[in-house]
Amino acid sequence: MRIIEERRSLLVPIVMVLFFFNTCHLQVMSCPMQTTNCTDQDRKLLEFPLNLEYLEAEFFLFGALGFGLDSVAPSLTMGGPSPIGAQIANLDRLTRDIVLQFAWQEVGHLRAIKKTVKGFARPLLDLSKKSFAKVMDDAFGRKFVPPFDPYANSYNYLIASYLVPYVGLTGYVGANPKLHCPASRKLVAGLLGVESGQDAVIRTMLYARAKHIVHPYGVSVAAFTDRISDLRNKLGKRGVKDEGLVVHKAMGAEENVAGNVLVGDKMSLAFDRTPEEILRIVYGSGNESVPGGFYPKGADGEIAKSYLD
Ligand SMILES: *[C@@H]1O[C@H](CO)[C@@H](O)[C@H](O)[C@H]1NC(C)=O
Ligand SMILES: *[C@@H]1O[C@H](CO)[C@@H](O)[C@H](O)[C@H]1NC(C)=O
Repeated sequence: MRIIEERRSLLVPIVMVLFFFNTCHLQVMSCPMQTTNCTDQDRKLLEFPLNLEYLEAEFFLFGALGFGLDSVAPSLTMGGPSPIGAQIANLDRLTRDIVLQFAWQEVGHLRAIKKTVKGFARPLLDLSKKSFAKVMDDAFGRKFVPPFDPYANSYNYLIASYLVPYVGLTGYVGANPKLHCPASRKLVAGLLGVESGQDAVIRTMLYARAKHIVHPYGVSVAAFTDRISDLRNKLGKRGVKDEGLVVHKAMGAEENVAGNVLVGDKMSLAFDRTPEEILRIVYGSGNESVPGGFYPKGADGEIAKSYLD
């Protein structure tokens, strides 16, 4: 008995040494000792979502409070320009409460990413009514009169918010398998978890009001989500990765339900998107080399900049 235990106690460190030696030696990138120095690929993939986190932080901060990062965490902007047209939204108590929580979570996400990669300054963001109105006009293929105003009331703000965390979510799902360091994957999983939660809360609030007709457009909340998702699929150019709140049963979970409070593929797994797909969507141009939409001068970071002149 004693001998076996002794052998065992010797065996464990030997196996561990072999394990670490092998992984470090054959594949430096996955070496657990090197997690503080992630590869270039990891750095690029981790800095890219800063673009989206800046947008989310500003949209939610302004929506709930009427001011943004310049007031609550100026150092995180690294001197980037203030967003265009962001303002306080006319929200009911519950919605404001939830949006404020999301806002502070986004500030945390910016901190988390910047703790790992140096990142870049806040890019110019266009969060004006006009910017959102254009997305809705593009989604419906006609000009809304009066133009859609994301800040007018809770319904509109939640519909506008439907645009926000989901894009980040698909980006994190897409980035995860491409990351080399465990620390990078841990960060992305942590970001993904909370972004998915935000998306779920927004979708649940909208789902509870799916049949509500949005004034004065005569269009239901469900129809808004459907059209926005269709637009994103069209701009992303990589098939269906986005679905509204109510779908054909064939598209629902296990082809059994039309209610679609959360998006998933055939096996109810989250869809993934590449940075290129995301740029095509957030620029509203369908082309990662043609900035516009929420990023009038384009997104920042090595990946986004590689597509700009
Ligand atoms: C991190 O990796 C880069 C690129 O491989 C290398 O140039 C640099 O010296 C490394 N830094 C540290 C602290 O190991
Ligand atoms: C995207 O835009 C660039 C720059 O205008 C252009 O050269 C390229 O052909 C466009 N790509 C597509 C797929 O339209």
